[in-house]
Order: sequence, then structure tokens, then C-alpha cells
Amino acid sequence: MELGSEYIVKIEKISNLGTGIARIDGCVVFVENVCPEDEVKIKITKVKKSFAQAEVAEVITASPRRVKPFCPMLKACGACQLQMIDYDYQLEIKRQIVEDSIRKIGGLDVEIPLPVPSPEIKNYRHKIQFPISQTKVSKRLLAGYYKPQSHEIVNIKYCPVQPEICDRIIDFIRENASKFEISGYDEKTHTGDLRHIVIRVSKYSGKILVALVVNSGNTNSRFKSFASEIYNEFDEITGVCLNFNTKNTNVILGRKTECVVGADYVEEKLLDKVFKIGADTFFQINPASAENIFAYVRNYIKDNYNSPLVMDAYAGISTFGICLADVSDKVVTIEENPQSCQKAEESLVMNKVNNVEIHSGDAAEFFKKEKRKFDVSIIDPPRKGCTQESLDEVLRLTKDEIVYVSCNPATLARDLKYLCEKGCCVKSIQPFDMFCHTYHIENVAIIEV
Ligand SMILES: C[S@@+](CC[C@H](N)C(=O)[O-])C[C@H]1O[C@@H](n2cnc3c(N)ncnc32)[C@H](O)[C@@H]1O
Repeated sequence: MELGSEYIVKIEKISNLGTGIARIDGCVVFVENVCPEDEVKIKITKVKKSFAQAEVAEVITASPRRVKPFCPMLKACGACQLQMIDYDYQLEIKRQIVEDSIRKIGGLDVEIPLPVPSPEIKNYRHKIQFPISQTKVSKRLLAGYYKPQSHEIVNIKYCPVQPEICDRIIDFIRENASKFEISGYDEKTHTGDLRHIVIRVSKYSGKILVALVVNSGNTNSRFKSFASEIYNEFDEITGVCLNFNTKNTNVILGRKTECVVGADYVEEKLLDKVFKIGADTFFQINPASAENIFAYVRNYIKDNYNSPLVMDAYAGISTFGICLADVSDKVVTIEENPQSCQKAEESLVMNKVNNVEIHSGDAAEFFKKEKRKFDVSIIDPPRKGCTQESLDEVLRLTKDEIVYVSCNPATLARDLKYLCEKGCCVKSIQPFDMFCHTYHIENVAIIEV
């Protein structure tokens, strides 16, 4: 197979990273932006020892499940890889991705139902993090997502999966930063001012929190004046914060955040509880889909336990803890981000909840020291999953069941395998579609210890 050569192939399936899979003389070829069963003419763009990559030159016969892509930036941006596949079929593909991971990595035979669909499939993304750079000659600010497999920013003026007002706020920042002598960041030379724009939109109130991530250790009059200008331009904005990040790193947020104007949070409602979300606290990007997950876990605990003692580990702003408070005797939450714990404490007061105990610190350290036994342990770790030591500790601390919430089917499968080797039994796995049009999928596994 040669670079640039063309072939006609039929797409067999979608990989766990959202690309189409075809075969040429037995060699796997990954093809971007296709639907299973599409017959396409492809052009080879990369050749490796065991696989090749290709782009579509022409769709010859479209799959009956192919739909018109909704985003004009599809090829340049690449974030919503599944958008040319009809939504019901996306759900079936994701079901298959989860089943394959659980079987191949976990060695487990668990029946996987279809994901619970996202209540909204456009404008669903309520947290936006755009990296910033600037053009070389005219020094115009660029804000958007990185091109696939690169650190080159695609300047995105319109993104159909985020609320429309975010496009206008980002455009305002792009157009007005230079008035305040604020430049875009250059990650190669580690120079320039503005690194990222982070926006949180409350689905509940429509209010917005903006954070400007700056390449500086502290505030100055330029940043402050620009923050006020942004705040004054949009009625929906309740506050503008500065986050200070001087590290030469891909990590978006630095440790320190300062609210320059307005409030340092937006309120979001889940089930019957209201939460304070800060610029630097974790919260699911799709609140409507997140609410389905919280309702699912809450109903499970309500139907199967009578006033249990619950642990909520990797708790963020104690969202599970607070949603479960009225069906539990007590919930003990553990989270390493102090700002999230602070917002959780404020949400407890706001919701008049007094049976949630919040711990700030590393979960592994907390597990080691904890003496109580919990009827149910909820664990919701980051994408990398849990260490075996942490899983051992969670087992020691859990009387009946673990509810494992995961955004990564591969690490979920690996951790379930370990738990089963330790004598646990996976009762069910329910996927939820939190990240429509992408290959990402959230799962809730219920495990008997
Ligand atoms: C996927 S989020 C889940 C948050 C929460 N359960 C929710 O649904 O909103 C994972 C959380 O784990 C926290 N975290 C990551 N590593 C941790 C650790 N070693 N100990 C405690 N918390 C940790 C992160 O700060 C983040 O808030």
C-alpha cells in the first residue's frame, strides 16, 4: 500500500476511537468520517507496519444509516466524529464499543443494554474549554479546538454542540483582547497572555461563568479591565474569573483562580438539588444526561437499601452525595480538589442537607485510614480508573455493593476484571450517552462484593 494511492472499500465497523475500519488485502485501514456499510473511495494518508490511515475521496454508496453532517467544521475540527451516523445507530455502535471492551479487556460476559440517550443532541455541551493562540503576522486571536493529532488551533466561530451564546462570547473575546493589549499564547515559545477560555453555562438558569486562563502568576490592570468589559457586554454572565497558569504544560488550569468581577460560580439544578459550580471545579459537561445518571443511581439505592451508609469517592462537588442524601442515612464524600470541596460545602447549606460529610484529600489516603464499613460505595474516578491498591481498599470498606461510574470503557473493563478476580460479581452495566457524536461513553456498573 502506498501513500496517496486510492482504493474502493466498504466500512466494516467503527473503532473504539470513532474511526471507520476497512480492510485492504487483510491490512486494517482506519478511515475518518464514515458510517459502517458506506462504500467509499479512500486515499491513503499514512502507512504503518500493521495498519494504514486514509481519508474519504468520495462516498460511492452511502450506508442507509448515514445522515448529513451538521457541522461545517467537520473535517478541520474532528471532535464530533460520529455526526454522519444517525443518532440511534450511534447508540448501537457505542453499546458495541462497551461490550467489546468488557469482553476483550475484562474477559467478562455481561449483557450491555443500549445507552440511555442524551435528552439533547445539539447544544448539549455546557462546559467549553477553547485553547487560544494568535496568527503570526496580524496577531489576531485564534480560539477553537486542536486539529486532529496536532496542536494547531482551528478557529471555531460556530459550534453546534454548545449553547449559541458561547460562540458570541468567544467572538467578543477574540475581537476585543487586543484593545487591552492582551495577546494569544504561543505554546512553542511559552509566551503571550491568554492560554484558554473556559465557559460554564448553567442549563437551569441560563447564567454563565467565564474564566480567562492567563500565562501569569497574578492579576494586572489589563486583565481586570478586559474581564469587566466581558462582564458588562453580556447580561447572562454572572462572573468573570482569572485563572493563573504559568507552567509549560498541557494542563489547562493552574492552581489559583481569582474572581475579578461578579460571582465565582453558576448554579445548576440536578433532580431537586441546586449546586454551585466554580470555574475550577469538576462538573459533567452535559447536565441533562448527568441528571439521568444521578436519577438512575438514586433510584437504585432507594429501591434496594433502607437508609444506607454510602461512600461517594472521587466526588467532585459531591453531586452524588447530595443527590443521595435523602435516601441515605449518611453519605461520606472524598475529593482531592479543595475548590470542589468548598463549593460542595456551600451547596450543602443551600440545600439544607446535613447528612453529607465532605473530606478534602487524596482518595487512596482516605481509604487507607477509614475505619467505617459502607453499605454502598460509589466510585467515579478520572479516565485512568483506579489503582489495584485503591480497589482493594474500596473492597475492604464496602459491605454490599460498589457503584462504579466511568467515562472510559477500557479502564472500567480492566478494573472490573480485577474486582471479579477478587470474588466480586458484576450485576449490570448501563451506558449513558453524555458525549453525543463522539466515541466517548459513560457507564454505571453495579458490582456485588
Ligand atoms: C469524573 S470526576 C467525578 C466527579 C463527580 N462524581 C461528578 O459526577 O460530578 C472525577 C473527580 O475525581 C477527582 N479526583 C481525581 N483524582 C483523585 C484522587 N486521587 N483522590 C480524590 N479525588 C480525585 C477529580 O478532581 C474529579 O473531581
